[in-house]
Amino acid sequence: REAKLDLIKKHIKVFPDFPSKGVLFRDICPLLKDPLALTAVTDLLEEHVRLTHPEVDLIVGLDARGFLFGPLLAQRLGVGFVVIRKKGKLPGPTVSVSYTLEYGQAEVEVQEDAVYPGQKVLLIDDLLATGGTLYAACELMKKKQADLLGCMVVIELKDLRGFERVKPISVFSLVQY
Ligand code: PRP
Ligand code: HPA
Repeated sequence: REAKLDLIKKHIKVFPDFPSKGVLFRDICPLLKDPLALTAVTDLLEEHVRLTHPEVDLIVGLDARGFLFGPLLAQRLGVGFVVIRKKGKLPGPTVSVSYTLEYGQAEVEVQEDAVYPGQKVLLIDDLLATGGTLYAACELMKKKQADLLGCMVVIELKDLRGFERVKPISVFSLVQY
């Protein structure tokens, strides 16, 4: 486990002042490019789910970078993958939740028939910053009356205290900064 975490950390690049001044951007592109590092991510997420939430029915991923890890994990677990998208991207009836960003408003949505009441779901994204995105996703799952077991991210930016925003739903992270 420690060796896998070290391999993952080695493949996360940091870019100061991106996308704006003062932001330390953690880039997962090198992680995606290295097959062993990407396998390590899937291994550790799978291990976490099998230990803590073996009853999970669905993995629900967030637009856009949650889509890079979610399907790999869902396939390992033998469960389905559902997408939560930014507004206006999904056809058919949808359910949406709007939330406030640092600047302005955003809205996420899910197809109405994608999650049934009582289904046991786990949310996945690449990174937890302020928690606004994951919080909106949790609200969406609440609207769908899903049984939300928890959230998972590859990277957690601890200083921004996103886990407090998502409370009482728990957030599991592989790497913390
Ligand atoms: C990033 C990241 C998370 C979110 C975290 O996505 O991938 O989804 O921000 O920030 P928060 O915890 O403060 O809400 P972004 O909105 O940049 O979209 P993208 O994945 O489409 O690039
Ligand atoms: N890296 C990648 N995505 C992000 C970050 C970051 O540091 N902060 C918010 N979204």
